[in-house]
Amino acid sequence: MPPLPPTRQLIPLAIAGLAATAIVAFILVVLFISWFSNPPFGWGDAPDQPISFPHTVHAGPVEEGGHAIQCEFCHRNVTTGAAATVPAVEVCVICHQQINGANAAAGVAEPEDLIDIQRVLDKHSDGRPIDWERVHRMPDHVRFVHEAHLRFLTQGEPRTVTLPVGDEKPMQLPVSVPEACSVCHGDVAQMTEVQPQQGQSLKMGTCLDCHRENDVSTDCTICHK
Ligand code: HEC
Ligand code: HEC
Ligand code: HEC
Ligand code: HEC
Ligand code: HEC
Repeated sequence: MPPLPPTRQLIPLAIAGLAATAIVAFILVVLFISWFSNPPFGWGDAPDQPISFPHTVHAGPVEEGGHAIQCEFCHRNVTTGAAATVPAVEVCVICHQQINGANAAAGVAEPEDLIDIQRVLDKHSDGRPIDWERVHRMPDHVRFVHEAHLRFLTQGEPRTVTLPVGDEKPMQLPVSVPEACSVCHGDVAQMTEVQPQQGQSLKMGTCLDCHRENDVSTDCTICHK
């Protein structure tokens, strides 16, 4: 039998073993959390946008300094199509041709807001799009249709439903368009930066729960191409 190595040589080995186990455990925990909800440590937070676009100023209530522009004014396809669509720079210029660095100063608090408005106008005059980063995106094999969900939430007879999304409370339907958006996206009108929903996730389980609750098909083929 070979002599046992002295304990002192075993210590570094034991430490390396423990470190490797800790790293593997850490990776597994992160994968586990990401799979069932959203990634931890802010890895799932809002991406940096090329121009900081505050929903508060545009869609927020007038009492709070917003301009209460309707969601559908910018997300033009949301009640009629699959994708909500993000507005082209031409839509921004409808207002910002007038509300620009020269005359917005009264309402805009910070000089950097004026710089951002100027960036919008520069993009427009250069004929370039603003490359917004996507906040919510389903994998390519998933099909999602805004129109069907907006119709369900904003139309039909008055009824009480329990939607298994977010805090899962009974809700009186139909609701207004912005209230419908907040079922899945949270209160975007109060966000200076659109955050992927923190309290809930748009994972397959959420979709399936709500479909089951409302007698909508849960066939794989309605959501998967
Ligand atoms: C003046 C135009 C405008 C209005 C009004 C507006 N939005 Fe937006 N919205 C944008 C732009 C531009 C973006 C892309 C930049 C960003 O993500 O912040 C966006 C992004 C979003 C996103 C994230 C899209 C993604 O990438 O996943 C959601 C969700 C959203 N808006 C919901 C709303 C809701 C709900 C309302 C009404 C309460 C609303 N928006 C009103 C212009 C607008
Ligand atoms: C319906 C009119 C309207 C449209 C459309 C619109 N804006 Fe605005 N925007 C405003 C108003 C009003 C303000 C506030 C200006 C003020 O207070 O003087 C503003 C302010 C801003 C600011 C300054 C931010 C701040 O904190 O004040 C930015 C940046 C901006 N808009 C970008 C955009 C972009 C990008 C689009 C297109 C996706 C867009 N806007 C579309 C009306 C509009
Ligand atoms: C039933 C849940 C649900 C509701 C309600 C909902 N959305 Fe969405 N939204 C999603 C999902 C899921 C995605 C990602 C879609 C994808 O990647 O194909 C998304 C993506 C988006 C996007 C970015 C991609 C695109 O479709 O252009 C915008 C903008 C958006 N939503 C705006 C809105 C607005 C505005 C409302 C309310 C009028 C709304 N959504 C209501 C689930 C919802
Ligand atoms: C708030 C409840 C709710 C949530 C959450 C929800 N759905 Fe739905 N979905 C419905 C209802 C209700 C319908 C049926 C609407 C109708 O046509 O009457 C539907 C219909 C659909 C359809 C069929 C649309 C058509 O007309 O072809 C697809 C596809 C779909 N949902 C995908 C998804 C996906 C993917 C998710 C998750 C990202 C999701 N849904 C989350 C309630 C929900
Ligand atoms: C109501 C919509 C809906 C239905 C019905 C549905 N799925 Fe999904 N599925 C999703 C969404 C959304 C995702 C992507 C988000 C996620 O990973 O949870 C997904 C992801 C998946 C994935 C990949 C997981 C990954 O990491 O990307 C598989 C595999 C899958 N679904 C299989 C199925 C099978 C099998 C069925 C039928 C028994 C089914 N799905 C029915 C919405 C649905």
